[in-house]
Order: sequence, then structure tokens, then C-alpha cells
Amino acid sequence: MRILVTGGAGFIGANFVHQTVRERPSDEVTVLDALTYAGDRTSLDGAGDRVRLVEGSITDVPLVDRLVAESDLVVHFAAESHNDNSLADPTPFVQTNLVGTFTLLEAVRRHDVRFHHISTDEVYGDLPLEGAERFTPSTPYNPSSPYSSTKAGSDLLVRAWVRSFGVRATISNCSNNYGPYQHVEKFIPRQVTNLIDGVRPRLYGAGLNVRDWIHVEDHNSAVWRIIERGRVGETYLIGADGEASNLEVVRTLLEIFGRDRDDFDHVADRPGHDLRYAIDASRLRTELGWTPRFTDFREGLRATVAWYRDHESWWRPAKAATEARYARTSQ
Ligand code: NAD
Ligand code: DAU
Repeated sequence: MRILVTGGAGFIGANFVHQTVRERPSDEVTVLDALTYAGDRTSLDGAGDRVRLVEGSITDVPLVDRLVAESDLVVHFAAESHNDNSLADPTPFVQTNLVGTFTLLEAVRRHDVRFHHISTDEVYGDLPLEGAERFTPSTPYNPSSPYSSTKAGSDLLVRAWVRSFGVRATISNCSNNYGPYQHVEKFIPRQVTNLIDGVRPRLYGAGLNVRDWIHVEDHNSAVWRIIERGRVGETYLIGADGEASNLEVVRTLLEIFGRDRDDFDHVADRPGHDLRYAIDASRLRTELGWTPRFTDFREGLRATVAWYRDHESWWRPAKAATEARYARTSQ
């Protein structure tokens, strides 16, 4: 199969490419990536000669048309992905997440190519901190930030293109990922690399907000399961029962680093900060028979810490600029 992976030089996309070449020996992968600040060609090092990287934007109509025409499947990861950046400047979020997804949909419509759209649980807004309620495929959309609202809009475009034009697409909405190759702007890599540098972790507000963590390998195995066995037009929620408060995550990291459990700072909260995310992945588990492999979050964090210790040359170039950006908002 010839697979076009958009955003394949980013965190989840690069892990997807490595998993794909490892597990699918006859597939060929073309990565289309604009190599924004979040993309890194070295994340694809070692993927081998069945992977080709094309530097370009998903908003480039002729380029997208040519690459889609050559493909049997498009897996669409490319996005502006960071909530804090979307609060500082929503412009690229509208361009990439909405106009870019529209551009891809028009191309897969013209060439009748199977499409899988990668999305987020943030399209559903947030849940109360207390309680056992979880997101399901029928939870109403209620996004909070420019990032999540553009992702919600992109999901709705996909749904409309399925219904109106018969595009063969599936959608997945996943919870918070962690693992190798995640940019140092994101919560876990930021604190891990701070701790490597001897800097105290930084918690937004009281640190009570809850995220539902999943290892990136489990996200990607679920994506493949949906591509292979999912029903066209359907939405699947991906999660691995990994709820933890930000404070709990920081305390676990401090323990892994052998530091005092209170060795962190509270900093300014994120405006509009979503309280809690939690995924009910029953459809994926029961209909498609998917199960996660990385069920021990503490062990997953240990392995992730080891990866960042071993790959300093990968993350170091982005660290100072990222912290300078945070310093401007006191976060
Ligand atoms: P990322 O920011 O690490 O990577 C995004 C990639 O897209 C980068 O390589 C970037 O260069 C590329 N890109 C950006 N604009 C582009 C454009 N116009 N044209 C081509 N490429 C472009 O993001 P990520 O965390 O890997 O997220 C990937 C996808 O998964 C996104 O769609 C995101 O919404 C979704 N998602 C992420 C998470 C998470 O926890 N990180 C959870 C659920 C869903
Ligand atoms: O839920 C899926 C989403 O998860 C994805 O769609 C997004 O692309 C991805 O970035 C992530 O969004 P979050 O906003 O939840 O992730 P982030 O890593 O930015 O923050 C996780 C939590 O940690 C959040 O409650 C904010 C908090 N935080 C973050 C940073 C960077 C801190 O307390 N301190 C920090 O320094």
C-alpha cells in the first residue's frame, strides 16, 4: 500500500511512520510535512528507504493533489497542535487545521482515496473535575480554545464530505499522548527536560486539571485498527483509562528523578483551561477488539524519561526558544 502521512515529522506522525515501516514490510510511506517549529526531519532518522519526506504544506492545492493521486490511503496528522500557541496567535491554526483539512478532503474526493482523520478529545470541551462521566462518540461538540475549535471544525468538514460526497473517511478522537519525539513545549517533555536541567517543574494554576494519558504507540496501534477494521463514516474515541491530575504527573516525575515531591512551582494558569478529559473507548475495544499495551503509566513515564536522557541532541535545540516563549506569558 502507498500511504500519505501528513504531519509525519511531528510527534505522533513520526511514531506512526516508525511503527508502520516496522510492522508492514510491503507498505511505502510518503510524509508531507511543512517542517514548522514542531516538525523535525531527524525524527524520521532510521525509518529506512521505504519512507520519503516531502517538505510542503497541506494547504498547497497542486502539491496535495499530486501526492494524494499517487496514494491508496491518507492518514492526516498535520496540525497546529498546542493550545498555548493558539491563544497567542490563532492564525496558523485556522489555516492548517481548517483550510489544510479542506484541501486534503477535496483531493481525496477527486481521486477517491481512503482518508483517516486524526483528531482530539478536546473537541468535546471539558468535564467536571469530580465525577465519573466520560466522553463518548455522542457527546456534543463544545470546544474551548482556538486549537480545539479548529480541530472540531475539521472533524465536521470530514463528516460532511462523507455524507455529501461519499468520501471514504474515518475519524479518531484521542486523549493526551506521551512518549518519544514529543516537542518540549508540551507538559510532560517540558517537565522532563526541566528536571534534566535541574529546573523545577511548572504547574499551571493549582495543578488539579486531569488529563487521560495514553502512550503514543497505543494511539497509533488503534489508528491502524480503525483503518483496517473501522466502518467508513464512523468516529472512534481512543483512550487507555489513563486519568491523572497534572500534580500527580509532576510528583511521579519528581520521584523518578529522586527529587523531593514538593520541588515544583505553580505558575500562571492557562486562560480557559479545560478541567478534565476522560475517554470511553468501548466502541474501539468491543467492536474492533483493540487493547492498549502500555497500561502502566509510571513505567511508561520512566521509559519516556530514559528516552529524553538518551536523545538530548534531538530536543536541546528547541528548549531555550520554547522557554523564552513561555517566559513572555509568565508560564
Ligand atoms: P505536532 O505539533 O508534534 O506535529 C504536527 C506536525 O504537523 C509537525 O511536524 C508540523 O511541521 C506539521 N505541520 C504543521 N502545519 C502543517 C502544514 N500546514 N502542512 C504540513 N504539515 C504541517 O503534533 P502532534 O502532537 O504529533 O499531533 C498530531 C495530530 O494528532 C494533530 O492533528 C493533533 O490535533 C492530534 N492529537 C494530538 C494529541 C496529543 O496529545 N499530542 C492527542 C490527540 C490528537
Ligand atoms: O487531549 C488531547 C490534546 O492533548 C491534544 O489535542 C493536544 O494537541 C495536546 O497538546 C494536548 O493538549 P493539552 O493542552 O492537554 O496538553 P499540554 O501538554 O499543553 O498540557 C497538559 C496539561 O498540563 C494541561 O492541563 C496544561 C498543563 N501544563 C502544561 C504545561 C506546558 C502545566 O501544568 N504546565 C506546563 O508547563
